Amino acid sequence: MKKIAIFASGAGSNAAKIIEHFQYNPEIKVSLIVCNKPTAGVLDIAARAGIPTLLIEKENFFRGSAYLEELEAHGIDFVVLAGFLWKIPAALVKAYPGRIINIHPALLPKFGGKGMYGRFVHEAVVEAKETHTGITIHYVDEFYDHGRTIFQEKVEVSPDDTPATVAQKVHRLEHEHFPRIIEAVVNQQTDGSALPNQR
Ligand code: GAR
Repeated sequence: MKKIAIFASGAGSNAAKIIEHFQYNPEIKVSLIVCNKPTAGVLDIAARAGIPTLLIEKENFFRGSAYLEELEAHGIDFVVLAGFLWKIPAALVKAYPGRIINIHPALLPKFGGKGMYGRFVHEAVVEAKETHTGITIHYVDEFYDHGRTIFQEKVEVSPDDTPATVAQKVHRLEHEHFPRIIEAVVNQQTDGSALPNQR
């Protein structure tokens, strides 16, 4: 059994889709939700699904143990970032080499980096009059939005689009692809099966 911890600090719509996707999977389980915001919607989603939560605070994350002991105590094999905005400390990257995956709501390397998250990304995309945006799923290293890309998918941006409508389009893509890509990465690292091709 491979165990996933989802790190999320927002509404948790991606976390909800991932939880649903693995609900009846006998080999992969969402075992922990890690969150740095006591009021985040993702905590309600975890509670409804009966998944344990770990509320983390800055000092211990960046200058303490990075919560490695807690992750190990839960037997966590993979870390999935789904709307988690803090940089991942080196100790965690080292403990989970190639086993931390992030989703970014744009086509990296465009619109990435510190401060580029959620609606700020979609505002910048509309402002720049981009004709396309999309999602990037990538491995996590010690730099923001930097590790090797696993999967990207595009969606059109029309002149009528607003940051809110772009956000909706991007969320739709995230919900469609993120759970199955996570499954493919876990399987690849467990039994060597292939990752899906880019379309
Ligand atoms: C998602 O769109 C995700 O791509 C983004 O936060 C949103 C969380 O939504 N992540 C980043 O911007 C990271 N830089 P959710 O809480 O509904 O899943």
